[in-house]
Amino acid sequence: MADQSNAYKTETIAADAAGIARAAALIRAGQCVAVPTETVYGLACDATSGAAVARVYAAKGRPAFNPLIVHVSGTEMAESLAEIDATARALIDRYWPGPLTLVLPLKAGAPVAALVTAGLSTVALRCPDHPVAQALIAAAGVPLAAPSANASGRITSTRPAHVLASLDGRIPLVLDGGPTRGGLESTIVAVEGGRLHLLREGAIPAETLGLAREAAPVAAEPSAPGQLASHYAPRQPVRLDAARAEADEYLIGFGAVAGDLNLSASGDLGEAAARLFDALHQAEASGKARIAVAPIPEKGLGRAINDRLRRAAAPR
Ligand code: TXA
Ligand code: MG
Repeated sequence: MADQSNAYKTETIAADAAGIARAAALIRAGQCVAVPTETVYGLACDATSGAAVARVYAAKGRPAFNPLIVHVSGTEMAESLAEIDATARALIDRYWPGPLTLVLPLKAGAPVAALVTAGLSTVALRCPDHPVAQALIAAAGVPLAAPSANASGRITSTRPAHVLASLDGRIPLVLDGGPTRGGLESTIVAVEGGRLHLLREGAIPAETLGLAREAAPVAAEPSAPGQLASHYAPRQPVRLDAARAEADEYLIGFGAVAGDLNLSASGDLGEAAARLFDALHQAEASGKARIAVAPIPEKGLGRAINDRLRRAAAPR
């Protein structure tokens, strides 16, 4: 694939009506655009166009075996793409729009480019709970394939500046909707024969979905192909469960461990989730040789936070 580095002069514009119209025109022309959702920024393109989807893979440097999430406006669009059984329907009724991605059987003849699903017989669908993401789907008039808006393996983006940190010059446009509300990616659940399998911890804790801890996959053999061991990684090495910083470390604190920046002084996991990726970006930009992170409790959103941190700290 052609090298896309610095092929574009990346523009950042407000996510108002005019901005959304420009973004939709670019998407209809087969380009990709960074867009805010309630979880993180996504790099959106026309999911029905193989050429457009290829641009997303190229911009991210993403391996082609790693499929993309398709963002839909609601149930009707979802039904045109996937087989939705009663189990999936119940989850959709309860959690959409919102940060729950469902991996479902791809419908025969669904207008989804083969590259989106990486050739799998399933498709990941999500209905975002964000006015800008929804307005963009409506204006583009197609389902939008959108992975997180960061170069493959690098830190996820919750602000426009984070997008530019790894994609400046590689995409034409960033729609600026300010910092995202949630801060962690969606929870991914596969629905298969009426049973649920947790593929990725995320914004909705597994216990909220009634999924047992054992249902979570271990890192070695990922069932969501993107769940590679090293991911979300800053340039520097990351040390976890740190009570204090060594001389050359930037310390990301939590609760009583203050650090250079505290994810949540009061120990609130929702607040910590919203700040996590910004903290990793700030730590990366700090100039310190290494990054340390305070212990985060392994419960509720803490499980998704620790999942991201373990991957950030994994051997490269
Ligand atoms: O909150 C989110 O989910 C964000 C926003 C932008 O919507 N998106 C996001 O996308 O996190 P991405 O590409 O960074 O992660 C998508 C994950 C990958 O791990 C991929 O392997 C998995 O979803 N995935 C996609 N399609 C799949 C499928 N058919 N079967 C299993 N896993 C799938
Ligand atoms: Mg990602």
